[in-house]
Amino acid sequence: MAVKSPDNGSNLAKKRILLGISGGIAAYKAPALVRLLRKADAEVQVVTTRSAEQFVTHAALQAVSGNPVRSDLWDSNAEAAMGHIELARWADAVLIAPATADVLARLAQGRADDLLTTLCLATRAPLLVAPAMNNVMWSHPATQHNVEILRSRGVVVLGPDDGEQACGEFGPGRMREPEDLVADLQSSRTFSSPTSAQADGLSGGERPLQGKRVVVTAGPTREALDPVRYVSNHSSGKQGFAVAAAARDAGADVVLIAGPVDLPTPIGVTRMDVTSALEMHQCAMGQATDCDLFVGVAAVADYRPASPQTQKIKKTRSQSSGWALELLENPDIIASVAAQPDPPVTVGFAAETQHTLENARSKCKRKRLDAIVVNDVSDTSIGFNSDLNAATLVWANGELALAKQSKADLAAELIHQITVLFVEQLADTHPESVSKQR
Ligand code: CTP
Repeated sequence: MAVKSPDNGSNLAKKRILLGISGGIAAYKAPALVRLLRKADAEVQVVTTRSAEQFVTHAALQAVSGNPVRSDLWDSNAEAAMGHIELARWADAVLIAPATADVLARLAQGRADDLLTTLCLATRAPLLVAPAMNNVMWSHPATQHNVEILRSRGVVVLGPDDGEQACGEFGPGRMREPEDLVADLQSSRTFSSPTSAQADGLSGGERPLQGKRVVVTAGPTREALDPVRYVSNHSSGKQGFAVAAAARDAGADVVLIAGPVDLPTPIGVTRMDVTSALEMHQCAMGQATDCDLFVGVAAVADYRPASPQTQKIKKTRSQSSGWALELLENPDIIASVAAQPDPPVTVGFAAETQHTLENARSKCKRKRLDAIVVNDVSDTSIGFNSDLNAATLVWANGELALAKQSKADLAAELIHQITVLFVEQLADTHPESVSKQR
């Protein structure tokens, strides 16, 4: 990815970036990151944790940043000149790259046990973290929970990338490359002025869905055959939960209607658990009446067994001739929401295996949706249980490719695009409920 030069209008020009480096192998890339930030005309000060010093020297960081490097909270010489409070006030943004599992945990807990975590508590500047760790550590529920806490506080999480790791394993956990981190900073809204946010249609700046009600469905549904068996599908719920978290980050009040999944509830989101398509339909229709945006990410079972049994079905029932299962069609939840007299902005999801865009367009029209997000599930690297996704957002007059990225990043991009595309409908929906909350 190209790094914009200062004369190319870099929004990093003259910005004061405090780079925090924690102790992971990716710290060896930090000097390259500092150089690229300075090439984009940013000022850089570096703070390291003690363990970062095992991977990169202060001498190297000082040489490339042009400033002394700090790690000690108790450095009395430095405290007089540029202590944690001064550093915290100096920064226009704090970027921690790499951010280890330990530093993410300490930030989530609000600890202040070294210079880096202390100044993160003391600063009002935006905080961005670029996680880097072994893929099993990244996927661990403790780390995911910590990341969720940080996101709910507005911390921007950049990456991690997927691929070969220093430990020889493959998976998500690689720190994003320095070029990508600089491009992320340049394209993020961290430094964009309210005017530029408004120019792309965001009336609410960083929180364009402030005062709006968003309902998201997620996960599979289960259609009972008897008390021990059901018909279902492979949906993990990850993308739907990420959409709910992204809508929350955009300032919305979010209700997440979840089928049976094993995922933590995003902080600040109201979760309603359901099992079958009929339950999801009933719950969604109740919640959709005064909502502004409805996003149907759930993989709803199209059919349910016609006569679910209250007792376990015995094998002898079918004798030797097999068993033909009679199925009834389930209601189409999102189409019912879109068919209401005063519908919210309604966005569906479709997983297709062939004629992807063609099928998505006709589905969007048939269900009377404002837009649909379609992905090609024949690509197994972005399959049901993956942390990655790639998709195309399709609407009446256009389409936009959402590149392969983490489900959280794709959700954030999707919510951003929805707020831009449907800014007028969103402003018009239920103005009385919005003004009440303002
Ligand atoms: N959907 C729904 N209720 C259903 C089926 C689907 O709300 N009973 C929603 C999904 O949540 C998704 C969109 O409709 O937002 C598209 O889902 P998909 O399963 O692709 O649609 P189907 O109409 O079932 O199409 P297909 O014939 O491809 O299964």
